[in-house]
Amino acid sequence: MLKGKHIILGVTGSIAAYKSALLCRLLVSAGAEVKVVMTPLAKQFITPLTMATLSKNPILVDFFNPENGEWNSHVKLGLWADCYLIAPATANTMAKMAEGVADNLLLTTYLSARCPVMVAPAMDCDMYAHCATQRNIERLRKDGVHFVEAEEGELASGLVGSGRMAEPQHIVDAVVKLLAEKKKRTLDGKHYLVTAGATIEAIDPVRYISNHSSGKMGYAIAEELAERGAKVTLVSGRTALDKPAGVERVDVLSAEEMYEACVARYDEVDGAVMCAAVADYTPQQVASEKIKKGEGDMSIALKRTPDIAAELGRRKRQGQLLVGFAMETQNETANAEDKLRRKNFDFIVLNSLRVEGAGFRGDTNVVSLIDSASREDLPLMTKREVAARIVDKIEKSL
Ligand code: C5P
Repeated sequence: MLKGKHIILGVTGSIAAYKSALLCRLLVSAGAEVKVVMTPLAKQFITPLTMATLSKNPILVDFFNPENGEWNSHVKLGLWADCYLIAPATANTMAKMAEGVADNLLLTTYLSARCPVMVAPAMDCDMYAHCATQRNIERLRKDGVHFVEAEEGELASGLVGSGRMAEPQHIVDAVVKLLAEKKKRTLDGKHYLVTAGATIEAIDPVRYISNHSSGKMGYAIAEELAERGAKVTLVSGRTALDKPAGVERVDVLSAEEMYEACVARYDEVDGAVMCAAVADYTPQQVASEKIKKGEGDMSIALKRTPDIAAELGRRKRQGQLLVGFAMETQNETANAEDKLRRKNFDFIVLNSLRVEGAGFRGDTNVVSLIDSASREDLPLMTKREVAARIVDKIEKSL
């Protein structure tokens, strides 16, 4: 989500600084490179050692290193960053930012930064509500600073009200959204449905039939569509993945539930990408109690599930787009081309299972994009890169 992005995390002297540790970890695990700048007071609330370990970079507090005189260039730092995130931001720091005061490295970096700046305030409810603080927030907004609003809840003072720093995950979502807005919003006004993940077909209350799909490919597509400005409804079977920022997720389990969710929404979308690994068969009957083992073997009678993609293909109206996936172990091309016609797809993404680095669970894939007139064989790339190529093809067909 933030792969390759450079983020400066500014930490000021607030009790909420303990949440900066988790925030830093979330940014790093989303793929960002993080450099932490702390105000001198912030060191009283969270140790530089913690922040240095989590960010994997030395912490910057002073204008220069007193040991060797090495200069911490706020100008270079400001140019390096794709985003300057100040979280938590105290009333004091926001007041100084609004006035252009530059008496610490965090503030000089603010004045040097050319990237978007995002601020997550944290303070007691009365300080937050004070007209001076609100005036400073308003001034900063006018200066182009973005805010992740403080949330309601119990505060360190024991009071309950608005002033708690937003939860770290909400802040990360806001940063992802902010950086995505900087991308070209080529799909503004469009709405896509994406299916992803594995379906779960219950046998009894404890067992089920499923498959190895991780949902990574579908989630990457949902994320890419959203970053280019599209509204995305992600109908998701079971996965271990977090909801991508800016995407509406509808959780389902069985193929039947996925079918209902997709058919109900298909009319209102501009297109659908069918990435889910949907069970083709489901038990004829779901036992209401756990099935006891007996002496002999047993078999389970299965019935067909609805083919969601084929149904959407039947309902497809002029101008609507339908993209399918195929994962074949034999006669790959012939089977994929057959599916393209049978399910009325505009194009199909053929996963190659024979190539190392392709298919389930991993972060890479090897695919071919096939439509009725052409075929493009892509080399091994990350699922996120594959998603970008698929979305490029969706854009071209508009
Ligand atoms: O026919 P097959 O299942 O191989 O087709 C794969 C394509 O059809 C994928 O895009 C998959 O998401 C979709 N599909 C579906 N509903 C099913 C089975 C497959 O949407 N019941």
